[in-house]
Amino acid sequence: MIQTRKHCKIDTPFAKDVLSGLQSMPKRLSSKYFYDEKGDKLFQSIMEMPEYYLTDAEYDIFESYRQHILNLIGDQPFDLIELGAGDGYKTKVLLRHFLVQDADFKYLPIDISKNVLLELEQDLNENLPRLKVEGLPGDYFEMLEQLNNKSKIRKVILFIGANIGNLTRAEALHFLQKLHQNMSKGDLLLIGFDLKKDPEIILKAYNDSAGITAAFNLNLLHRMNRELNADFDVKAFKHWETYNPISGETKSYLVSKKKQNIHLLDETIHFEAWEAIDVELSQKYSLSEIENFAKNTGFQVIKHLFDQQYYFVDTIWQK
Ligand SMILES: C[S@@+](CC[C@H](N)C(=O)[O-])C[C@H]1O[C@@H](n2cnc3c(N)ncnc32)[C@H](O)[C@@H]1O
Repeated sequence: MIQTRKHCKIDTPFAKDVLSGLQSMPKRLSSKYFYDEKGDKLFQSIMEMPEYYLTDAEYDIFESYRQHILNLIGDQPFDLIELGAGDGYKTKVLLRHFLVQDADFKYLPIDISKNVLLELEQDLNENLPRLKVEGLPGDYFEMLEQLNNKSKIRKVILFIGANIGNLTRAEALHFLQKLHQNMSKGDLLLIGFDLKKDPEIILKAYNDSAGITAAFNLNLLHRMNRELNADFDVKAFKHWETYNPISGETKSYLVSKKKQNIHLLDETIHFEAWEAIDVELSQKYSLSEIENFAKNTGFQVIKHLFDQQYYFVDTIWQK
């Protein structure tokens, strides 16, 4: 149990991960903690930014191929399970179409943010009242093993929005292996990868001129102040983004503008001037790298679906 300066006990995964992340070298925090109530709203603003091409690209794919996707699923009943569903903006293109086509399915969105999941369920109950929906709050890494208990019929798993880009290559490989183990023969996986492209286009998506991405990333410091009794002076940190066109790694950092001490959870964390916290990886891939993932994890590639600009791919794999 971690004691805080005000002697209240904070024993959450967030508190434990923050403490070990800020005490490691280099300092790092998981991007999954961006998504508190404020972070969810800021991410919705990011999705609306013209620079954030990922949303339009994947929306375009779903609009163009919704019937094609349904044809691949076939006409047996199925569970549509989404890992990290967020506000479901793009998924609703598929949900609406599947309902119009009288597909027999239930939608099971999983998200670590209870807040966004609740809003999604309310929105779906209001706007798609015929949809059978059951939101599952939690970390999708931990929920993989429960999938077979939760779903006894054919599974169609969505892992979209380039969520997989937040994992390192090694983590992604391990995650896909685990996913494969927890699927049954014939189950489908639709997974979104952001493709390597002009570095300028990529950098702008994570470094917009209005500063929305900066606010989204800096909200992590506000969140630690709110929930962990920390005393970050948020103005003393800046958002910094890099893209490496060889490795495909797009990285977000929060950089301390000066030498300073931060207090949180009864600990003092020291920052040297210009020391950074690694807060997010958004890995970009080539198509051959994606196909290797499928090959090395035992999936069969059924179809690649691209947007008109070839910025993004939703690829459909089968166990
Ligand atoms: C980048 S947003 C994308 C949302 C949606 N997939 C889309 O494409 O619009 C990532 C979402 O995944 C959720 N998330 C991130 N890490 C997660 C984890 N480990 N387990 C469950 N949900 C997670 C976040 O709360 C957030 O809603």
